[in-house]
Amino acid sequence: MAAAILVSGLLLSSLANAQAYTPAQRTDDAFSYIQPLNTTILGPYGHSPAVLPSPNITGAGGWEGALEKARAFVAQLTLEEKAIMVTGTPGPCVGNIYQIPRLGFPGLCLQDGPLAIRVADYASVFSAGVSAAATWDKEILHERGVAMGKEFRAKGAHIALTPVGGPMGRSAYSGRNWEGFSPDPYLTGVAMSLSIEGIQSTGVQATAKHYILNEQETQRNPTYNPNGTITDVIQEAISANVDDRTLHELYLWPFANAVHSKVSSVMCAYQRVNGSYACENSKLQNGILKGELGFQGYIMSDWGAVHSGLSSIDNGLDMNMPGGLGTYGTFFAAGSFFGDNVTIAVNNGSLDVSRVDDMIVRVMTPYYWLGQDQDFPTVDPSTADLNTFSPRKTWLREFNLTGERSRDVRENHGELIRKHGAAGTVLLKNTNKTLPLKAPKNIAIFGNDAGEDTQGFYNQVDFEYGTLVAGGGSGTGRLTYLITPLAAIKERAARDNALVQQWLNNTLIINSNVTDLWIPQEPDVCLVFLKTWAEEAADRLHLSVDWDGNDVVESVAKYCSNTVVVTHSSGINTLPFADHPNVTAILAAHYPGQQSGYSLTDILYGDVNPSGKLPYTIAFNGSDYNAPPTTAVNTTGVYDWQSWFDEKLEIDYRYFDANNISVRYEFGYGLSYTTFELSDLQAEALDDALTSAPAYHAVQPGGNPSLWETIYNVTVSVTNSGDTDGAAVPQLYGSFPSDTTPAGTPPRQLRGFEKVFLKAGETRTVSFGLMRRDLSYWDVVSQEWLIPAGAFTLSAGLSSRDLKASTSIRPVKA
Ligand SMILES: *[C@@H]1O[C@H](CO)[C@@H](O)[C@H](O)[C@H]1NC(C)=O
Ligand SMILES: *[C@@H]1O[C@H](CO)[C@@H](O)[C@H](O)[C@H]1NC(C)=O
Ligand SMILES: *[C@@H]1O[C@H](CO)[C@@H](O)[C@H](O)[C@H]1NC(C)=O
Ligand SMILES: *[C@@H]1O[C@H](CO)[C@@H](O)[C@H](O)[C@H]1NC(C)=O
Ligand SMILES: *[C@@H]1O[C@H](CO)[C@@H](O)[C@H](O)[C@H]1NC(C)=O
Ligand SMILES: *[C@@H]1O[C@H](CO)[C@@H](O)[C@H](O)[C@H]1NC(C)=O
Ligand SMILES: *[C@@H]1O[C@H](CO)[C@@H](O)[C@H](O)[C@H]1NC(C)=O
Ligand SMILES: *[C@@H]1O[C@H](CO)[C@@H](O)[C@H](O)[C@H]1NC(C)=O
Ligand SMILES: *[C@@H]1O[C@H](CO)[C@@H](O)[C@H](O)[C@H]1NC(C)=O
Ligand SMILES: *[C@@H]1O[C@H](CO)[C@@H](O)[C@H](O)[C@H]1NC(C)=O
Ligand SMILES: *[C@@H]1O[C@H](CO)[C@@H](O)[C@H](O)[C@H]1NC(C)=O
Ligand SMILES: *[C@@H]1O[C@H](CO)[C@@H](O)[C@H](O)[C@H]1NC(C)=O
Repeated sequence: MAAAILVSGLLLSSLANAQAYTPAQRTDDAFSYIQPLNTTILGPYGHSPAVLPSPNITGAGGWEGALEKARAFVAQLTLEEKAIMVTGTPGPCVGNIYQIPRLGFPGLCLQDGPLAIRVADYASVFSAGVSAAATWDKEILHERGVAMGKEFRAKGAHIALTPVGGPMGRSAYSGRNWEGFSPDPYLTGVAMSLSIEGIQSTGVQATAKHYILNEQETQRNPTYNPNGTITDVIQEAISANVDDRTLHELYLWPFANAVHSKVSSVMCAYQRVNGSYACENSKLQNGILKGELGFQGYIMSDWGAVHSGLSSIDNGLDMNMPGGLGTYGTFFAAGSFFGDNVTIAVNNGSLDVSRVDDMIVRVMTPYYWLGQDQDFPTVDPSTADLNTFSPRKTWLREFNLTGERSRDVRENHGELIRKHGAAGTVLLKNTNKTLPLKAPKNIAIFGNDAGEDTQGFYNQVDFEYGTLVAGGGSGTGRLTYLITPLAAIKERAARDNALVQQWLNNTLIINSNVTDLWIPQEPDVCLVFLKTWAEEAADRLHLSVDWDGNDVVESVAKYCSNTVVVTHSSGINTLPFADHPNVTAILAAHYPGQQSGYSLTDILYGDVNPSGKLPYTIAFNGSDYNAPPTTAVNTTGVYDWQSWFDEKLEIDYRYFDANNISVRYEFGYGLSYTTFELSDLQAEALDDALTSAPAYHAVQPGGNPSLWETIYNVTVSVTNSGDTDGAAVPQLYGSFPSDTTPAGTPPRQLRGFEKVFLKAGETRTVSFGLMRRDLSYWDVVSQEWLIPAGAFTLSAGLSSRDLKASTSIRPVKA
């Protein structure tokens, strides 16, 4: 393949591989398991326990009316139409469920992705998930979801393949961390809820993905013999092996938020969990998601993540994507396993039609709940032209693309994106208040991340020249314009009639004595722009910046005593130059979206006071991080790709805190142009008779509703003690009682945060509601969330290691 084609999760540069396999040859029963699990080969590896049957939807949580409509719809379907409803087909969108005009059903259009409607023209490129998380701003997280939802809707997409709760960020190296939010489950959980509520408020279905433990890209899919058939699996995809407590307290946590916020769909992941493929893992799908969490929507597969027919259906999968209803191109047929097979299986008695009905009722209930049967826009025909995943020649059926072409759906979103990008920019260092800039007259700009993109309007490669505003793969966006840092600085500096000089060639900068470059003397400020690429289907090889960025900084800082470094990055970067005395300021600008330059100048010139905080930890060295990805196995066994989550709860700051390891910039850290004080932390119990176990209530979306009850009101007083207006992010951390909580509990865990704007000198009281889940651990024996007896310490601070006030609570009386 000349170019990699990416869709929600699937790298098709290896299309050749996909074309080579013929699923029917993979097993005796083509519609059953991929391969009978051979315990001899499996050796020490197990597989996930069976939890059957797949629970029926109940409509709990306010979907009862929509459920009735969905049932009435399904009652009118023929068996052939039922097969259509659960199997994707190539068409104008990245995923398509075909229309049934007889019933006035126009079909479903599914579109990527987490920061933009990807397959579209005249649409916006928003800030990435990592930037959104770095705002720690609930209003922005919601507002971003609303604006994105409006664009999906106006382009005719019923289903947005976002937000991302997994990868969560177990490993700092994972290639897709930037699509999601933070390695902290609480922060990611809040971000999931607000994104979903924002998107769905516009009548678009949100998809929580990738369920679950998709914490690395390497070997996320099986290795096939390129010469062979599907029986020639050389090695199966990696298996993420995790214990029950870690699953609940870390990786499942944000998905519980998603279900609680009534997400329409959950996308199952590529890799295996405890030996069983995520999309046919009944413990995860039937047991935990539909059972324990009471999920009422449908589980759709990641693109090509289905490895069986009946087995996947029995084990809880409801929709096969991208599907394939026939035999064009072998990918769609091979990727399917559903389609006509569903009809055959029902007819021969191996599949009960009531399970198929439940699959479709789950698909159609959110459709009716969100009113998608009324006045939903048609698919923009330009979408079909831009869709490289299923171009027209792959279509098996006609699509009615009669709507208005090339609709401009961007509204005023550019202004929001500018604000969001600035709010997600974290000021890491600011010696002697070098920022904000004070009308510098002589500005020098260095680095290949400053200027116009030479290859980047549809980011899919780590191009050398041009600023980076998003990563690659299905999570990227197609820019319709880009405000570069260089352009924005020139524009802003013109107000001061400044001299602006630029060197964008890193090699040249590194090999130069920069005093030979600039005129007439050392600039007032040297701005160095560095970037870090990350993409789907590949993990990062290092945590440094790309393109020898560290050397660029050294070359400039050697002769420029006011060197300000800006990074555009997928997330974690080690910053070896941070102690350099001439590096006076560092800004982690993440992936800010299309208004990148303006988002940055707003901060540089002090029009916006920085208030972003790190949603992860910056350690001194890449090797300091726990849980690196599994990048190789030494053996050739089919099942030998195994990733043991032995670090359990100790990822990111939980690990560094538990082991007293110094870090460069801790989780929750970020400077402002003003200073803040925190004091007077108080916790008021809202229930005096709390029991350790939650009261029993019928499961609602999100699980036992008791878990979501607010049981403490915690307040803290926040003061802007400086002379500049700005926003603080008070953070609340909880420490569980050490003697009554099982071993391995992290010393401190985020349990609340708010962004609060304060005028200089102003004081406000901020309150955090603690829910029962926030003060509970997952007890693997009783399979309940339990509040341990004894005293918790609650600490409030301005970062995870800048705690200013604490108090003690005893929720459960001994
Ligand atoms: C039925 O499943 C087999 C694999 O088991 C696959 O080859 C075939 O394409 C499927 N049929 C359809 C119509 O999807
Ligand atoms: C299981 O694998 C072993 C070792 O490769 C092989 O000898 C045996 O025949 C396999 N068993 C089945 C049932 O396929
Ligand atoms: C995975 O295996 C561990 C260890 O046996 C077990 O605690 C956990 O519940 C299993 N989870 C799933 C989803 O199979
Ligand atoms: C789902 O509902 C059908 C009736 O529509 C019933 O036959 C089936 O047993 C139910 N399945 C479960 C798991 O309750
Ligand atoms: C595939 O075929 C090529 C050409 O015959 C050969 O070089 C290669 O080793 C084969 N690959 C495998 C995995 O068998
Ligand atoms: C195609 O869509 C248009 C607009 O939604 C509708 O009026 C027309 O009836 C549709 N035609 C067919 C053949 O479905
Ligand atoms: C910061 O200011 C102090 C006091 O004016 C001065 O001693 C120090 O050298 C300055 N540091 C830098 C890096 O400019
Ligand atoms: C960048 O600078 C190096 C070293 O001076 C030079 O070899 C290279 O051609 C330059 N690249 C471009 C695109 O100008
Ligand atoms: C770089 O240029 C400056 C100014 O001419 C000079 O003082 C310095 O020695 C030069 N550095 C090197 C390594 O040549
Ligand atoms: C900092 O910059 C000045 C030039 O203003 C230079 O003389 C000095 O050596 C630099 N310091 C370091 C540590 O490179
Ligand atoms: C592979 O083998 C080497 C040398 O024996 C060892 O150092 C390494 O840890 C092994 N890697 C894995 C993934 O088992
Ligand atoms: C928490 O306390 C604050 C300050 O007393 C109050 O304004 C707020 O309403 C309280 N919240 C709850 C949920 O009781």
